[in-house]
Amino acid sequence: MDTIVIHGGRPLRGEVHLRGAKNAALPLMAAAILAESPCTLHNIPCLHDIFSMDKLLSHMGARIEFTGRYMTLDTAGISSPNAPYDLVRKMRASFFVLGPLVARFGCARVSLPGGCAIGTRPVDIHLKGLEALGCNIELDEGYVIAKGRLRGASFALDFPSVGATETLIMAASRAEGTTCLTNAAREPEIEDLAKFLNAMGADICGAGTDTVIIKGQTRLQGVEHTVMPDRIEAGTFLISGAATHGDVTVLGARATHLGAFLETLQDAGADIEVREDRIRIAAPDDLRATDIITQPYPGFPTDLQAQMMALLACAEGTSKIRETVFENRFMQAAELNRMGADIELSGNTAIIKGVPFLKGAPVMASDLRASASLVIAGLMAHRGETCVQRVYHIDRGYERIEERFAALGANIQRIQE
Ligand code: UD1
Repeated sequence: MDTIVIHGGRPLRGEVHLRGAKNAALPLMAAAILAESPCTLHNIPCLHDIFSMDKLLSHMGARIEFTGRYMTLDTAGISSPNAPYDLVRKMRASFFVLGPLVARFGCARVSLPGGCAIGTRPVDIHLKGLEALGCNIELDEGYVIAKGRLRGASFALDFPSVGATETLIMAASRAEGTTCLTNAAREPEIEDLAKFLNAMGADICGAGTDTVIIKGQTRLQGVEHTVMPDRIEAGTFLISGAATHGDVTVLGARATHLGAFLETLQDAGADIEVREDRIRIAAPDDLRATDIITQPYPGFPTDLQAQMMALLACAEGTSKIRETVFENRFMQAAELNRMGADIELSGNTAIIKGVPFLKGAPVMASDLRASASLVIAGLMAHRGETCVQRVYHIDRGYERIEERFAALGANIQRIQE
């Protein structure tokens, strides 16, 4: 297992290019199951989660070519709509294949994803929605067995789940008749999925709002599509620039994708300059405490909560973060405290009393975004060395993060074992 070693205290300065969004690319890959001819996806990030989805689709019989930037997916040869536990357990997003498989084959057997470090993460909304579309669902020995010809229906999601909204949009695209989803998630990745499916011949209106109407089609054809830029990566670089009191321009970042996040950074004292194709951040020495509540889009994204906690660890005053999307997403707090932060947890709330500086320490990454938080803390630390262990978590969602921080002037290295 690799370790990332950081000697912090240097302001980050310069420009960084965004990669394609992991959370858009994964459902797009699954959606290729719905097409009768090959699809090409451009701007695919080179990440472990993408390799996991590639492995799963290939296992089922798809032919995939991935050059490291674009991917061609030919799913005509899928012979077995069966997603085994060994492949699904590694990445929850593997569950995205369920909707497209049942829409295309009328049956699917997909392992339940199980829990993960940030919470129990059930899939009940995905399953209730598929049942509303006429699918018969049985659970057997850890697998979802889904059968039936899908028919359009109205379905109100209990919570605007991103994954469930995507599953149901994909399934309804090839159902018979019209589906109306209400209380749907509004994340930009859902709009990207709808854009891809509409180019394939689907008829989806309202993606990106809480009501999505899908007129099912009998056939969809393969198309080319460019994956949207990664807004969580954008937020991570912007936080890093502010937290190190630097001056960073994130090329490809779109302010319209960042919802409440940019306002929060401004509340904390950062200067933000927005252009159509880039966002620049500069931050004074005295960042201010600020309160955050994570919420579905366009609220403050849960996927940037851990990184923001690192920044607030050294902001002047006391900040409060309330995590409302996942029940167990503060695992970075104890590690940040080992670096000198003063963070107290009480249920879903973290109270962060700003300290003048952090000190380097050996720390352990527990999940993807928590690892990014620890790397940012390492970049902020004014003394000592930070060794972030279990780096495979960060490789799931950030492409060669250490090289990109080094290009911004950080003293950061990966030690390979
Ligand atoms: C997606 C993102 C993830 C992000 C999350 C919230 C991908 C690949 N992952 O995950 O990075 O953190 O959105 O923005 O896009 N829930 C249920 N039942 C369900 C589904 C979800 O109770 O059937 C709950 C979850 O446990 C969680 C909340 O709803 O507490 C939000 O989950 P959801 O929006 O579904 O997140 P994911 O799609 O898994």
